[in-house]
Amino acid sequence: MNRLSFRQKIFFYQLLLFFVFILLLFPMIEQAVKQIMRNSLEERVQDLIEKIQDAPSEREMVQRLKDQEFFIFFRITLINSKGELLYDESVRQYFGEKYIPNFPLSLPEVEEALRKGKGYREGESQIFVEQFAYLALAFDFQRATYVLRAALPLSQVHELTKSFEIGFLLFSSSVLLIFSGILWLVFNRLSRPIQQITRAIKQDPIPEIVLPKGIREEDDFGRLAKTLNSLSERIHSQIKYLTEERNEKEAILESLGEGVIAVDAEMHLHYANLVGSKMAGFSRKGLIGKPLPKQGNTPLLERARALLELCQEQGRIVTDSISLTNGKKIYFDLIAAPKGKGRGAIIVLQDKSSHYKVLEMGKDFVANASHELRTPITIIRGFAETLQDLPEISSEMLMDITEKIVRNCQRMDTLVKNLLTLSDIENIPERRFKKCNLPALIDNCRHLLLSVYSDTQITVEKNREEIYVSVDPDLLELAIMNLFDNAVKYSLPPTHIAITIQQEEEDVKISIKDHGIGIPPTDLEQIFERFYTVNKAHSRRLGGAGLGLSIVKTIIEKHDGTIFVSSEVGVGTTFLITLPLAGETP
Ligand SMILES: Nc1ncnc2c1ncn2[C@@H]1O[C@H](COP(=O)(O)OP(=O)(O)OP(=O)(O)O)[C@@H](O)[C@H]1O
Ligand SMILES: [Mg+2]
Repeated sequence: MNRLSFRQKIFFYQLLLFFVFILLLFPMIEQAVKQIMRNSLEERVQDLIEKIQDAPSEREMVQRLKDQEFFIFFRITLINSKGELLYDESVRQYFGEKYIPNFPLSLPEVEEALRKGKGYREGESQIFVEQFAYLALAFDFQRATYVLRAALPLSQVHELTKSFEIGFLLFSSSVLLIFSGILWLVFNRLSRPIQQITRAIKQDPIPEIVLPKGIREEDDFGRLAKTLNSLSERIHSQIKYLTEERNEKEAILESLGEGVIAVDAEMHLHYANLVGSKMAGFSRKGLIGKPLPKQGNTPLLERARALLELCQEQGRIVTDSISLTNGKKIYFDLIAAPKGKGRGAIIVLQDKSSHYKVLEMGKDFVANASHELRTPITIIRGFAETLQDLPEISSEMLMDITEKIVRNCQRMDTLVKNLLTLSDIENIPERRFKKCNLPALIDNCRHLLLSVYSDTQITVEKNREEIYVSVDPDLLELAIMNLFDNAVKYSLPPTHIAITIQQEEEDVKISIKDHGIGIPPTDLEQIFERFYTVNKAHSRRLGGAGLGLSIVKTIIEKHDGTIFVSSEVGVGTTFLITLPLAGETP
């Protein structure tokens, strides 16, 4: 029943009502027919009585009855007060002229009529094998009481009832048909706005509902359409708001450096940002809505899976760390949190490699710095002890030893200066930045280098005479001098350095190229790290500790610039620096 449409339900109830109506009315039809028949019999019998009552004799009365027989449709019986049958045409026809029983008949309806004036009975005839409806009326004739009885076969009554019923059924069916037709039309007309509203609601996005002409705004449908229009407007703006919010959150999640993976309670992947899927080693496309793989996946995904299960089991945030060796060492911190009971969990994967790298670099730095400081101290101490042990020493040897002590002192001095510079350039105060002409600054460095290494050849090419940059001139000079120093140290004399200064739209590019020994490709990536040297012994012999390029890189980056290196062993090395141009204000 619930599957039926509203319209079908209406028609179903209408049919049901019709059948109940028919069912209740049919017994009433029979009763009504009988009542009509009874009244009509009574009228007819009364009529007959009036016609025979004034007969001069009993015989004449019977004769008058006989005369009337032709005009009546029922059986008629005349009985005297003793209950004797005086006239019955049917009995006469059936049994012959002679059969008139002269014994009193005991007929309940006759007895009732004698008592009350009127009697009625339905039942079997005592003479014919047939059911009759009897109506008997008592009347006075010549100071005696007579009863005139009409008998109608019940089969006739039934036939009449049946034809009444058929007529009624036909009539009510046609009424039902006409009524259904009208109902259908009315329903169609009424439901047109509903259909229109339904059609509109099914569309995506829901358009504005415009009702057909003739339906006023203050009608029920008009009000419904108005309400739905404002509802759809609210839904639209709600959807827009939610979509924007979701997109915003998704954009935030996608832009995170951390991996985010969310699962439902059945450990089916619900969401993963790009970083998360890359870290865990799966493609989001194939896995959304599917179970997180159990085997054959990366160790990180395996650990993440275990943590996601654990946090749901315990209903609290759980954390873990994992270190993996994939060519280089990678560290991950994992934080898993349940979304709510039975609603899954979310895990954040943080790549802590750079953090650990910084920690390790700090440790390495201290170790390297101590080592670099201890080396000259050990040498100086060694020579000092030699001097102590050998009081009578030749002047050449003394010269040699003191020279070595002085060189190592210088080395220590340079090292300490470089270390101080490194910590100093971490925070360059704003006041030290000045607008400087870069070609002039580089020219200054060139003169400084030539004053120490006079045989060095330095060529400078520039596309402008004046190119202004906002820099700490001392630090930028230090950076350039470090690169010149390297070019000299790692080239066979005479050194040739080619410099080009190129101003472009927003920045300036400085290239410093030498024809020295070059750097092997495997070392190129690391030469900017602190204390990194390609050849430790070679650098140490030249008094270097591997801090120069790390100082250069830090200085350039603190000036919002970049530095790249390209090199070929035996051909030479080129450093390419980019610096932003100074703004309008001097
Ligand atoms: N122009 C160059 N040609 C060849 N190799 C170079 C050049 N510049 C740097 N290198 C290599 O890169 C390494 C790192 O250079 P860096 O300037 O940092 O250290 P250093 O020169 O050895 O010591 P320091 O600069 O502290 O005196 C050097 O040891 C050297 O091997
Ligand atoms: Mg150097």
